[in-house]
Amino acid sequence: MVKMWQGVTDGVTSALADDFNSSVSFDSRMFREDIAGSVAHAKMLSKQGIITEEEAEKIISGLGGILRDLESGALKIDPEAEDIHMFVEQVLTERIGDAGKRLHTARSRNDQVALDLRLYLRNETDAILKLLDDAIGSICDKADEYKDAVMPGYTHLQRAQPILFSHQLLAYCMMLLRDADRLRDCRKRINVSPIGSCALAGTTYATDRGFEAELMGFDGVCLNSVDGVSDRDFALELMSALAILQMHLSRFCEELILWSSWEFRFVEFSDNFTTGSSIMPQKKNPDMAELIRGKTGRVYGNLMALLTALKGLPLAYNKDMQEDKEAVFDSADTVKACLGVLAPMVREMKAHPENMLTAAQTGFINATDLADYLVRKGLPFRSAYKIAGQTVAKCRAEGCILETLPLEEYKSLSELFENDLYNDIDLKTCVEKRISEGGTSRGSVENQIKYVRKMLAAPKGENL
Ligand code: ARG
Repeated sequence: MVKMWQGVTDGVTSALADDFNSSVSFDSRMFREDIAGSVAHAKMLSKQGIITEEEAEKIISGLGGILRDLESGALKIDPEAEDIHMFVEQVLTERIGDAGKRLHTARSRNDQVALDLRLYLRNETDAILKLLDDAIGSICDKADEYKDAVMPGYTHLQRAQPILFSHQLLAYCMMLLRDADRLRDCRKRINVSPIGSCALAGTTYATDRGFEAELMGFDGVCLNSVDGVSDRDFALELMSALAILQMHLSRFCEELILWSSWEFRFVEFSDNFTTGSSIMPQKKNPDMAELIRGKTGRVYGNLMALLTALKGLPLAYNKDMQEDKEAVFDSADTVKACLGVLAPMVREMKAHPENMLTAAQTGFINATDLADYLVRKGLPFRSAYKIAGQTVAKCRAEGCILETLPLEEYKSLSELFENDLYNDIDLKTCVEKRISEGGTSRGSVENQIKYVRKMLAAPKGENL
């Protein structure tokens, strides 16, 4: 096939090479961005007198027609095309003739592809932010619904101290709010225009890069043309933020999977978000949560793949950089799919506070509070800690819990024990007493819910 770039060579390449080289199968998803970029470019070229107004009009209406036909399916993307940029330009020239051949003045595919990718990822970031808000909202609402349920808090996956289930859920809201913050921050660096960098060195034409950038809603232009076409740190940054976000989703799902097991039975997924087994009729499997956890691998992998592809590249553009797209697209697609399923899965999830309480009652998780009781009666913490430990050992030996050990037994360990100890080690009291800022008391949980809702309702900037 003869290429549009037929110049020094006769433009004929092996079919094998064409196939290997082509990116249209995956970059065609950027057709809207490619067309929007070309419309802005034609406007700038005519404003600067580099092409005539009539030529620009022809180009712009031709591009509008291509966009309509691609959207409607009347125009099919040619799988033989080298990439989306070549395809659009080729069709444009077939449709409008010579004016189409002027569009590529004062630009190169190197700045064009960087532009398309930035425009595309800007939209993806906004879409992910919307889905993320919804997911955070679903977790926050669940915390509100089960505000008072007491569960064991864990360290080393061993029962540690009683906390509110809502407090644990809100921990995830805080993590995900930071993820949203990271995405918004990284969006700033995506939103800088590389167009006009041309092949690498800029151009001899009197272009107006600022005007062109403004037409596409960019905050500014890349200040060095070599940098503009060479780096993909904006994609890497997005992929890093997505990897961290996906790690949070995975951790949350891991807990939900554990909690939905018969061993815990703290939560139960709705039938809508579980699957059956093909052989064991009793099974309700948390496949959605498992897949979210499982897909974390590819989101990490994509980041490593692009970091590695870029690490040895001399400036400026190298074809290796075509490898950026599948990786970053897959990360964005995966995160969107995970967030999309997580929010309704959490909304339909039921909790079983009675099972959480039973678990909380059987791990001596109020032993710290027993020690604190003795401290309040005047004992130094280290001595109180020792007596509380001895009390737990006594309970274990006698097969009871701190709440049911008789006062005489307590008194045999320390004269400081009085009847009011039972109130202090009541699990609800233990939780309520954790009034420190960010602690698990009900008041603190209510403040956190208010904070999360305030953050979700806050204006997100004009582009969101
Ligand atoms: N398909 C290419 C890519 O994705 C477009 C840029 C091609 N530039 C070039 N000089 N061959 O990177």
